[in-house]
Amino acid sequence: MAETILVTGGAGYIGSHISKALALSGYVPVVYDNLLSGHRELVRWGEFVHGDICDYTALSLAMRCHNISGVVHCAALAYVGESIANPDAYYHTNVTGPLNVLRAMQACGVSKIVVSSSCAVYGHADGAPITEDTPLQPISPYGFTKFVMERMLDDFDMAYSVRSAALRYFNAAGADADADCGEWHTPETHLVPRIVMTALGRIPELHIFGNDYPTPDGTCIRDYVHVTDIAQAHVNAMRYLSEGKPSCKVNLGTGRGYSIKELVDAAEAMFQKKIPCVIHPRRAGDPAALVADARYARTLLQWMPVCSSLDAILATGMRFTQSFIGHD
Ligand SMILES: NC(=O)c1ccc[n+]([C@@H]2O[C@H](COP(=O)([O-])OP(=O)(O)OC[C@H]3O[C@@H](n4cnc5c(N)ncnc54)[C@H](O)[C@@H]3O)[C@@H](O)[C@H]2O)c1
Repeated sequence: MAETILVTGGAGYIGSHISKALALSGYVPVVYDNLLSGHRELVRWGEFVHGDICDYTALSLAMRCHNISGVVHCAALAYVGESIANPDAYYHTNVTGPLNVLRAMQACGVSKIVVSSSCAVYGHADGAPITEDTPLQPISPYGFTKFVMERMLDDFDMAYSVRSAALRYFNAAGADADADCGEWHTPETHLVPRIVMTALGRIPELHIFGNDYPTPDGTCIRDYVHVTDIAQAHVNAMRYLSEGKPSCKVNLGTGRGYSIKELVDAAEAMFQKKIPCVIHPRRAGDPAALVADARYARTLLQWMPVCSSLDAILATGMRFTQSFIGHD
């Protein structure tokens, strides 16, 4: 019989792609989301339960009613700058939230979980590719909440045998190839949708924060991973845990970084449009370069990023924005 997986945050950007990937792989996803930044329209591959992860009673009821056998936990607040301005909300959602998820799992006899972690747990890396053994030194409240969640997973494994896979995403980007789901935030602050919106003339210019970083062209370098690849890693991780294998923490990156300027150049070439850019001072907490050493995911989870070329990221991002998101 097909296993039913609770996807917290499944109405959001990454969670919706994970729900589709789970459904295509024979799982039954059930989305649990409070729609704070998610959209009901992105819940298309399973039942929807409107609820908050900080509401233990509703969460455990949802797990019990749907006979859940595993959890993918994506629900979180996910902006570094906002976490500095409002740490209270971040500790509540990103620490109390996963604690509730783990408590509800215990109460319902669910013993495997895949979680959205982040390269923000590493903080300022020295520019070399980041391995899973790179010291964890988060510099923002957001990164620290992900670090605490990972420590909670270790402790729940040790004490209660809850096995977990913490997937440390680098920069998720792009959209579903069929434009069934994609990146849709209000306001949108992420780079690829903002490049697309500038190319479409929906915003007048692209704001770039800092062009004096110690990188070849002065703009920040990031490791962009297609969201479809990220979603597939959750399927692989769920299978890995189902085989009884031990808990793990794994980078999800490509191992190749691109600067903001390289992304803009690629977009101008692909869309045949000039992307007007305005340079602003650096933002607090933005490291010059964050690039994964992605080898561990390959060996442990048999995961390879196969959709993560810049062209695929830009083309799918454009298709989703054009077909799904209105002009207002
Ligand atoms: N986007 C990235 O590049 C990136 C990188 C690293 C890690 N992550 C992590 O991936 C996860 C998903 O990120 P995303 O980009 O899809 O963000 P998103 O905002 O699109 O999705 C988050 C979802 O969680 C829901 N949610 C928030 N608080 C909730 C609560 N209290 N109860 C129930 N649901 C709640 C929101 O409504 C939304 O649907 C987050 O945990 C984030 O920290 C994202």
